[in-house]
Amino acid sequence: MKALILVGGKATRLLPLSINTPKPMVPVLNVPVLEHIIIHLRQHGIREIILAQGYMAQSIESYFGDGSRFEVTVHHSYESVPLGSAGAAKNAARYLSDTFLVLNSDIISDLDFTAMLALHRQSKAKATIATIPVEDPTKYGLVENDISGKVSRFLEKPRPEEVTTNMINAGAWFVEAGILQDIPENTSYSFERNVFPSLLAHALPVYAFPSSDYWIDMGTTEKYLQLHRDLLDGKCRRFRLPAARFVAGAGSDIADKVQTAGRVLLGARCHILPGAILNGPLVMGDDCTVAEDASLSDTVIWRNVRIGRSAVVSGSVIADRCNLEEGCLVENAVLGDGVTVCSGVKVPPGSKIDPGTIVSPQER
Ligand code: GDD
Ligand code: MG
Repeated sequence: MKALILVGGKATRLLPLSINTPKPMVPVLNVPVLEHIIIHLRQHGIREIILAQGYMAQSIESYFGDGSRFEVTVHHSYESVPLGSAGAAKNAARYLSDTFLVLNSDIISDLDFTAMLALHRQSKAKATIATIPVEDPTKYGLVENDISGKVSRFLEKPRPEEVTTNMINAGAWFVEAGILQDIPENTSYSFERNVFPSLLAHALPVYAFPSSDYWIDMGTTEKYLQLHRDLLDGKCRRFRLPAARFVAGAGSDIADKVQTAGRVLLGARCHILPGAILNGPLVMGDDCTVAEDASLSDTVIWRNVRIGRSAVVSGSVIADRCNLEEGCLVENAVLGDGVTVCSGVKVPPGSKIDPGTIVSPQER
């Protein structure tokens, strides 16, 4: 079984995090989100993976290479212009045959691909779409099905008045390679807006695979932080949490007088100085330093970040190489790579700050 993973989007809803980092490389518990997806596929015996590449392909290719480091085979298929989900599949057609799985690269879930494939085969569908209930279907692709599971309607990003169900496309579908024939070459084309509605219009069998398993699209900064809260809370079952609630990577040193509570995950070579308070959910990447009496809670911090003495950080995402100087306050904010928050500055809650910005007292 092969899986085509769509990794080519520009991830504008993840700005400013995605300016230097394509969405599949955004760290989740300190490893790229795409690595978690590949592990998920491997758990279901799917070991041949095609990455449909576009935005910042080089960074994804240099990390995943031929896949051998992850015990899978990875092929890279490149789009010079974004071709959409179906255009991406057509562009990768030389790798695809029989039945294959298509996945979005921003979904972390407990979806049971094995059971889903069994349903796909049993119903002899042309496509089987995993579906999941959400509060607001307008942000997703709405999927209506009858009592037998047969899909009757697919509507991408419905307007509020068009919402008839809370079940949406979970961003995972099995398809028969035969349908690639009807997808135009080198043209932007979408499974969600073109292929699924067209299969339904021609009365071809499309089935839903409804699931109530854990599922999240981490494609916005808010959902990215929520994903970390959920994972550290044990909501996604396939993530086995360590028995210890405080875990630090190799070479980290944690002073004796550090207070911690909740789940805290630190990368390698972190230095936590006396008096620091680390309240989970908290994830910190490699090579970070937290100075005396700084207080961190409910936050995701990437690599090489320095948190100054008595700084307070909560409900935030702090990307690589940020420098938060002494006594600053960062609440409910997202800081791109290399942001400096000057000493004593309070960052306005809700701020999203571009890479390299120096937030100085004058800008308060
Ligand atoms: N190769 C390639 N080419 N990949 C692309 C392109 C493209 O032109 N455009 C987007 N992608 C990738 C993105 O990188 C992402 O992994 C995936 O396709 C989905 O794109 P999103 O931009 O995250 O889509 P969405 O979240 O608005 O909607 C999709 O996902 C929902 C579930 O989260 C749709 O499939 C919805 O129907 C679905 O409900
Ligand atoms: Mg998405």
